[in-house]
Formats: sequence, structure tokens, C-alpha cells
Amino acid sequence: MKRRVAILISGRGSNMAALIEAASASDFPAEIVVVISNRADAGGLERAKAGGIPTVVIESKPFGKDRAAFEAVLQAALDQHGVELICLGGFMRLFTAEFVQRWFGRMLNIHPSLLPSFPGLDPQGQALRAGVKISGATVHFVIPETDAGPILMQGAVAVADDDTAETLAERILKVEHRIYPDALRLLASGRARLEGDICKKSANANPDGTLISPTAG
Ligand code: GAR
Repeated sequence: MKRRVAILISGRGSNMAALIEAASASDFPAEIVVVISNRADAGGLERAKAGGIPTVVIESKPFGKDRAAFEAVLQAALDQHGVELICLGGFMRLFTAEFVQRWFGRMLNIHPSLLPSFPGLDPQGQALRAGVKISGATVHFVIPETDAGPILMQGAVAVADDDTAETLAERILKVEHRIYPDALRLLASGRARLEGDICKKSANANPDGTLISPTAG
């Protein structure tokens, strides 16, 4: 049985599109049953509809600071679609600890840095200002703290001397589109397990497991 997944978005939804594309394969262990946006103008909504995925808009603005009231409506939509797993894809709204607790172990987020480095806003700019030589993207389980939680998968890119936040973001985004579907595949097929704050997987996919940047040659 495929696991039933909701993708929550606030914007363009390129990660959402990558997940929808991956999930269209017959052997993928999850199906995207609904895309939910907290903004009616999210570009990703059109992309979801084009992919034949039901969409729901729950505008968060009218709820102001009343996060619990927003989440009650959100939870009703999730229940209605029989959702088992949630993927956040650029969903720019914070949750209450209660909501996060309810979905702990079943809600993923993607962030464009190698967490725990550079959580929050402008992670690519933060990476450039710190002068790191390798950055990347992280898929992690959601906990109440923003851009934190057990790490399910990471992918790395080399940082070039002439990178701008935009060029780095572009390269990292390509990695995001690769690792988010792979991470969901791991979770949905039951091959990732949580041991306290650590997520483990039965075997390492990459036998070498090294990534070094820059090269000396
Ligand atoms: C992605 O780069 C995602 O990693 C980032 O927002 C972008 C959404 O793009 N998320 C965060 O920064 C979470 N803190 P998308 O709508 O095209 O998927």
C-alpha cells in the first residue's frame, strides 16, 4: 500500500513538482494525495493542478497569530484526505509545538543548507559569508525548533569563489530535487528509523561516502 502524502507549500513549489514527478512512478512507495497552500497566489498550485493533484488553499493571514485555529482547519483537510505523511516544500508558516508533536516522525522539511549550519533565512548568503567550501541541502524530520530535527538525508555541492547567493541557490536547488524524493522513498518504504534524535538507515547508499571540496589539482 502506498503511503498517503500531503505537500504543504507557500510559493513556487519546485520541490513539490519533483515529489509529484517521482511519485508518479508505479514503484514509488508514496502517493501525493493533496497539495495544501497557505497562500492563494502560490505558483505551485497551478503546477499541482497540471499534475492532476487535488489542491486546497487555507489562507493563513486571516488567522493572524492564532496558529492553533489555522492548524485546526489544516488538520481537518489532512484528515479528509487520509494523509499519513507530510512534506513541507517551502512552507513559510511556523507550527505550534502541539501540531509538530502530533506529526513527529511523519512530517519532513527541506532546507537549502547542510543543517545544523545556517538555519533560518538566506541560508545560501549565510554560507557565503561564512566562507564554507561545501554547502548543500538537508531533508529532516520537523521538530518545534525551526530548520532543525533528525536528519534523514543530505546532499552537497561545492561552493565556488565567484558564487552569489543566487548561483549557489540554483545549484543547491538541483540537489534538493534529487534528495527530497529519495528521502520520501526511504521514509515511506520504512527503511529509515528514528533512534532518539538520530535518524538511521539500514545501509549507506554510497560505498565511498566522501565528498571533498575544493580539489587541490
Ligand atoms: C527551497 O529552496 C527550500 O529548501 C526552502 O524554500 C525553497 C522553496 O522552493 N525552504 C526553506 O528555506 C525552509 N526553511 P520551492 O517552493 O521551489 O520548493
